[in-house]
Amino acid sequence: MEATVAITEAKQKKGKPDPETLQFGKTFTDHMFTMEYEEGKGWIKPEIIPYAPVEIDPAAMVLHYSQSVFEGLKAYRSPDGEAVLFRPDENFKRLNRSNRRLSIPPVNEELLMEYLLQLLELEKDWIPDAEGTSLYIRPFIIATEPSLQVAPAKAYKLFIILSPVGSYYPEGIHPVSIMVEDHFTRAARGGTGTAKTGGNYSAGYNAQAKASGEGHAQVLWLDGVEKKYVEEVGSMNVFFKINGEVVTPELNDSILQGVTRKSVIELLQYWKVPVSERRISMEEVLTAYENGELEEAFGSGTAAVISPIGELTWKGTPMIINGRKTGEITKSLYQTLTGIQTGQEKDPFGWTRTIS
Ligand code: COI
Repeated sequence: MEATVAITEAKQKKGKPDPETLQFGKTFTDHMFTMEYEEGKGWIKPEIIPYAPVEIDPAAMVLHYSQSVFEGLKAYRSPDGEAVLFRPDENFKRLNRSNRRLSIPPVNEELLMEYLLQLLELEKDWIPDAEGTSLYIRPFIIATEPSLQVAPAKAYKLFIILSPVGSYYPEGIHPVSIMVEDHFTRAARGGTGTAKTGGNYSAGYNAQAKASGEGHAQVLWLDGVEKKYVEEVGSMNVFFKINGEVVTPELNDSILQGVTRKSVIELLQYWKVPVSERRISMEEVLTAYENGELEEAFGSGTAAVISPIGELTWKGTPMIINGRKTGEITKSLYQTLTGIQTGQEKDPFGWTRTIS
């Protein structure tokens, strides 16, 4: 298979949004990539076409049993005007891990990368260059076979859509308030928690509504067995700095394997800051807080980047972290990661891929 894509250019191009008022995921570019899967033929018909609504059979299996996966990565504008991608290979590897969990046929990661590069070539003017902005890339796959049988579909469609974005939180890089959820759970052992599939997120909406109603930006999920151990936040992995050591929950099959999470751990190791991946209970976090040892907390994610946590409320008790100010490690991680991602800082890890 070679990376030949049929390109149909949009007749009318949209105006670019004002980079100062960009929200997350509300504006889409002029074109999108699509590809189909048919049993016996594999992934076929790679195309770049004008961005537009799609026709879907009401019996398409994704509408009934949610057989779908997605990814999220970003392209940034470097000071030289080049487009920079951050660890895209990690996202495509994770896409195939999610595919495996959801019984969706794997995609050829190298070919998909080539297709993405062709789409970005056409849309590179959409990469914003204002501070804190980027072009969010959302690949996703849905089961399109019209059938009500409860079984893996025989037909799928893969899309890549692009959205110029600003900060994920309206607060920007200011500390957010998080509510620890102790009734609902996000994911169970052996479930789909580690896969990037829509249901993991919509299952959290009611808890999110409760948290928002009480003035919190997001929910922190605990393990689904004992509701004792920290897992992740709504759209981010989570880190705590306790008495000089940065701790993040070790991966299991209910925690998302974040690309930013992995990069944070590698960066901290490079800086020789003690970092460990291990189980961490809310009791431990509260005890550290009470002893004055909970020094910083932050979330990590492609959309959220590095997001300081200024308050964590568990069972009605608010823990105010670092006086609601962004901590030193959190700040350094944000600056270095965004510096590497935007090509403003040297990348000693080979994480970025520049498209000129
Ligand atoms: C991301 O960080 O890319 C995510 O997928 C999180 C969220 C917007 C669902």
